[in-house]
Amino acid sequence: MEHENNNNNWSGQLGFLLAAAGSSIGLGNIWRFPYMTGTNGGGVFVLIYILVVLLIGVPLMMAEIALGRAAGANPVRAFSTLAPARSPLTMVTATLLLIGAVIMLVTGNPAGALIVGAIAAMFIAWGWKTVGFFCGLVPIILLSYYGVIGGWTLIYIADSIRGVNNFTTIQGADEVMKPILYASGNWKWGVVAGQLVFMAACLSISLAGVRKGIERWSKMLMPLLFILMCVLIVRGLTLPGAVKGLRFFLEPDLSKLTASSIIAAVGQAFFTLSLGMGIMLTYGSYLSRKTDITKATFGVIALDTLAAVMAGIAIFPAVFAMGFPASGGPDLTFKVLPAAFNMIPGGLGVIWNVLFFLMLAIAALTSAISLIEPPASILSGEFKMSRKWSVITVTAVCSLLGVFCALSMADWSNLSAIGKVVEKIWYGKAPGSFFDMLDSFCCNWILPMLGLATTIYVGWVWGSRYALKELREGNDGSLDNSLWLLLAGFKAKDGGKDRRYLFTFGILWGAALRWLCPVLVLLAFFNCIGVIKL
Ligand code: ALA
Repeated sequence: MEHENNNNNWSGQLGFLLAAAGSSIGLGNIWRFPYMTGTNGGGVFVLIYILVVLLIGVPLMMAEIALGRAAGANPVRAFSTLAPARSPLTMVTATLLLIGAVIMLVTGNPAGALIVGAIAAMFIAWGWKTVGFFCGLVPIILLSYYGVIGGWTLIYIADSIRGVNNFTTIQGADEVMKPILYASGNWKWGVVAGQLVFMAACLSISLAGVRKGIERWSKMLMPLLFILMCVLIVRGLTLPGAVKGLRFFLEPDLSKLTASSIIAAVGQAFFTLSLGMGIMLTYGSYLSRKTDITKATFGVIALDTLAAVMAGIAIFPAVFAMGFPASGGPDLTFKVLPAAFNMIPGGLGVIWNVLFFLMLAIAALTSAISLIEPPASILSGEFKMSRKWSVITVTAVCSLLGVFCALSMADWSNLSAIGKVVEKIWYGKAPGSFFDMLDSFCCNWILPMLGLATTIYVGWVWGSRYALKELREGNDGSLDNSLWLLLAGFKAKDGGKDRRYLFTFGILWGAALRWLCPVLVLLAFFNCIGVIKL
């Protein structure tokens, strides 16, 4: 089945790979990954994160892209065309949610009960389409704060040019960053303006369409980001005391492993790989049958992991060498990297900073525009809006929600009334800020939940053998070749589609999708809420 909007397709394997990598590589790698690593125990977080990427990320990304291409439609439609929308499982989910809502009600949380009850009602009425609906909703929430950090990158470009970002100490970095982080003083509306300018840039690229907009920009600008990261790595590693930072980042200290760091690693993997948010599904729907989904998935995941590891190697040596606290939080990248650049001999800090934040802004843009796609494709597919108006509507909603995020990245001081309501819903222990609330709720809970639902839908409801059929389209036979033969160095075509081997990547993928992924995600949840102790 072709996508409703078949003018909007990728040009080919490379175009898709770069656009999907452009979506994955973004603030998640360079802004979120370092500070999550810093606040969750360093190397041990990296280890769990890499395991999650390999064991859950690879099978799930293949599943999402295959689902999107097979359905050739937006997420809501994708969850209802390949199998009936309602199944016994959706009724079980609705029942569990209703029980949860009743528990919330009797424990004095009517607002929470209302939200959970409403989701239960959606499952009863729409079945699996509910998962598609949330695949459209979550990117809107993510983009609302993504736009704020995108705005920070623009502010930093301007500040670097003005010579404000010439700090080399923690105090200097704090002086520049604190008002931006807390949206205080002169920066109260400055951060809002930064966010709105960033969102306007997203809008203009998205309106240009999939191939001319997203794909063209990704192709041109992603390679530059990698080159600049190499410069930063050399800088970081040549600072005195850099080894300490490298050890913090690469040496897993198992005593620092906590339930919340495991779930945070799961959330980070989903966030950075753009999984559980309908993006890979929607991008898959723009994909031709000639493209090898398996190869593309490995390409995207390798590039994304490389970018994250490079960011870590660039940042942590500098963090330790200059005495910054590793658990500094969301402004870590914005404080450490300019300081590191400013210490490069030759006094060219301004140029390095401008270049770096420009690249970061671009990486953020290629991801942000991918966040617009799932909700926009739902609006155009389900509500028959034109692409133009779908994109404008989504961007407008994200920008509006983003104003609240911009004002409350660090605490509730600018939004105290909303903070009080949130406190009630969260049983008296409100998250630190509006941003914290959206980020931890979406990344640690909703993304893995949607990922779990996708593995179950593709693996059990649509069926892994149909999904494997879809994966075979465009594949050179490597999916069905014996992994033993491949290990022994035989070519994929020596296996061939007509032969039946017992140990093939296709079989491994199906088993991982049906069993391993759901079990691992559930274990992480149960561990986090204290039902089990890992
Ligand atoms: N995957 C995107 C990122 O890492 C959202 O920034």
